[in-house]
Amino acid sequence: MAERVFLIVLDSCGIGAEPDCADFGDVPSNNTFRHISASPEFSASTVRRLGMGRMDGVGWLGGPTGGGPLAAVARMRERSRGKDTTIGHWEIAGVVSPAPLPTYPDGFPAELIEAFSRETGRGVLCNKPYSGTEVIRDYGQRHIATGDLIVYTSADSVFQIAAHEDVVPIGQLYEYCRIARRLLKGEHAVGRVIARPFVGEYPNYVRTERRHDFSLEPPKETLLDALCAAGRDVIAVGKITDVFAGRGITESVASHNNGEGMALTSGIAERDFHGLCFVNLVDFDSAYGHRNNVDGYAAAFAAFDGWLDGFLKKLRPDDVLMITADHGCDPADAGTDHTREYTPLLVIGDGIRPVDLGTRPSFSDIGATVADLLGVAWKGDGVSMAEELTRGDVSDDELLDAARAARAAAYAPYSGHAVGAALLSEDGRIYTGCNVENAAYGVTVCAERSAVTAAVRDGARRFCALAVVGGTDRERFTPPCGSCRQTLYEFCDPQAMRIVLSDGKDKRVYTLDELLPAGFGGLALKTE
Ligand code: THU
Repeated sequence: MAERVFLIVLDSCGIGAEPDCADFGDVPSNNTFRHISASPEFSASTVRRLGMGRMDGVGWLGGPTGGGPLAAVARMRERSRGKDTTIGHWEIAGVVSPAPLPTYPDGFPAELIEAFSRETGRGVLCNKPYSGTEVIRDYGQRHIATGDLIVYTSADSVFQIAAHEDVVPIGQLYEYCRIARRLLKGEHAVGRVIARPFVGEYPNYVRTERRHDFSLEPPKETLLDALCAAGRDVIAVGKITDVFAGRGITESVASHNNGEGMALTSGIAERDFHGLCFVNLVDFDSAYGHRNNVDGYAAAFAAFDGWLDGFLKKLRPDDVLMITADHGCDPADAGTDHTREYTPLLVIGDGIRPVDLGTRPSFSDIGATVADLLGVAWKGDGVSMAEELTRGDVSDDELLDAARAARAAAYAPYSGHAVGAALLSEDGRIYTGCNVENAAYGVTVCAERSAVTAAVRDGARRFCALAVVGGTDRERFTPPCGSCRQTLYEFCDPQAMRIVLSDGKDKRVYTLDELLPAGFGGLALKTE
């Protein structure tokens, strides 16, 4: 069980097109993370060290280098019929949306605009998709002359109201937004109504910091609601509060860019809390993805990766860190819209087993997992991964028992030296082996290597512990021979791999790194 979960959303950092991308107007070649890696600004040494290259579809990143603990990894698929920020975050928090949020490529329907005008007492200008800076340049003067409101949208599900602060005081603009929010219900439930105030003289109008989002409430109970109801803390950093319309949040921390978001998250890691710290790093999407700025995106990723290295050191034994994304926004493709992509999931923590969870069918598995890790009973749309993630309870003694049982099967008619081995895979399975001798002595197979063979045959390739039971009166313990050490080296993190020996009475515990220092990992030879 975790005390604190940090869930960081790298806004738009997809890892490859989903199979249904064509339904969303996208092409199979979209791959945000892959495409930013081509930039000279790109650097990903921390996530690579954590083993992100083990993730489905991310093999190109290369194997973990530099030692240290690995993350559990998964590739997450979006099940919702949408690819926007709101729907992506809702799905992460356990709410799958069967329909996309409505968009208005031809503007809002007349009856909606009429109702809005009736309630605000003001006319409406524009009413179509428009760039935010161009819309005030093109309609600003008429707005000032008539007092009519500039209403526009974008490729996203947004109803935006631009008004000069001297014409419409800010409080009144917010009130108009609340009116729109009330009218935009049912089939017209847009994701966000946004106040877009501006100041200045034509043609030098500038938008002010008083932009404000009025978000749609999630249609059912989210992870955040469930955590709050169970008395956990939910600390929201960045636009999380907006995305959930302020619901299910015990503390909201505003942040305007990635640097601020990361610094605030580091600060929160110094504090005691019991629950979730949910962070959105927005620049990847807003500053780089939508602007097709590959180098900017790559540099922002490098900055995150560097920050992460330091953040990992702040984690406490009962913490879990999860890193994911809400959709893609490939800066290298022709369009500037979001892209329908798989997202990454890295899970890090002392209590987390570095399993490879393959490809998961829905982002909502994250929400279910967070609830589980924080000990909150909640049934959202997802399936929890907590059991696979949390270290199994296989103790050294259990592993030694399995090795002892395997020893009974040893075939050692020439030496009379029976050996049993038990190998623990990172996903908690135990594989055993015994030595199998041969009249041609050199053909003999050791217990450890026979366990490795059985494990690999069953699909296990990452191990975290090995127990060996053998020995005689003359030599009480049987440490793995050189060949077995080299064989194990291929399939584990040598610093973390525990090797437990027993003579039936006493135990000796080593790491593989101690038994085979400076081993040959063969990375230079790998082609996959
Ligand atoms: N043996 C193992 O099974 N594992 C080791 O690491 C050391 C040696 C076996 C092989 C052979 O059957 C017998 O012990 C004597 O060398």
